[in-house]
Amino acid sequence: MNHLVIDTDPGVDDAHAILMALASPEAEVVALTTVAGNVNLDLATRNAHIIVGVAQKEVPIYRGCEDALVVPTARRAISHGTDGLGEIDFAGSIPAASTEHAALALIRLASEAPGELTLVALGPLTNVALATRLDPQLPQKYRRLIIMGGAVYAQGNSWERTSEFNFYCDPEAAAIVFSRWPQLTLIPWETALRHALTADQVEALLQIPSPRAEFFRQTIRNRMARNPSGQKTLTEPDPLAMAVALDPQIVTRAEHLHVEIELAGNFTRGQCVVDWSGLMQRPANTQIILEVDQKRFFNLMQQALR
Ligand code: BDR
Ligand code: CA
Repeated sequence: MNHLVIDTDPGVDDAHAILMALASPEAEVVALTTVAGNVNLDLATRNAHIIVGVAQKEVPIYRGCEDALVVPTARRAISHGTDGLGEIDFAGSIPAASTEHAALALIRLASEAPGELTLVALGPLTNVALATRLDPQLPQKYRRLIIMGGAVYAQGNSWERTSEFNFYCDPEAAAIVFSRWPQLTLIPWETALRHALTADQVEALLQIPSPRAEFFRQTIRNRMARNPSGQKTLTEPDPLAMAVALDPQIVTRAEHLHVEIELAGNFTRGQCVVDWSGLMQRPANTQIILEVDQKRFFNLMQQALR
């Protein structure tokens, strides 16, 4: 059994990733921890509750950091709608989140089950970095850390052109995590672009007759309508990272390399800097996922929505 803690800023694709984890018969979602990223912390936490409700599961949800560790995030996302879930129709009530802070929960949960939990980080790394500062032994207490983030070829998707959005939001947090965790797995933005769901795959998911597929439809309808020239493909970075967490065999090409995060730079703050040639002779701290089996990824998406 794969025991997962998911740190998240939901977020349309976060929502799909969480549904994927909750639908897996081989996984147990131990907790969700929320962080400001795509939307503010209140919305992120509210959305986490909505997603768990859609899946008809009960999972503890811990609120985390409401902004970046050092420099407040200048701009949040626009592609997830004002509510962070693509303007879904939701009129239900939201239960209160647990009172323990997310960073403390990340430490406590791993300390209670050392070496057993996989941490999947789908948003800015603020909570993970804070927890790492509070407990420097944290990297040894988790089985794996899997991060969706970074643009390894500098093809960014944020207001800083060479930075991926999660690292753009909190570069200092990303820098702490990459300098303190000796071995982590990274699913970068360019890999998500390479593995966008095809138009046929999106259509097949929309045809699934289930409440989860209806939720999926609502979350993507505005985004699909805005796509240039009627393009019907869908880039799903967080589900791709979750697929790697749930099914490590899905990976077909990866590189182990040294990665650092740019904190200065006139145009490159938050850039994920990869030592592709090993020039610095530093130990590889990151498994960079470059390609996966697209069919297996699609199968996990189907399983998430059935
Ligand atoms: C990442 O940024 C967010 O908008 C998504 O939820 C994903 O985690 C992709 O760059
Ligand atoms: Ca996210």
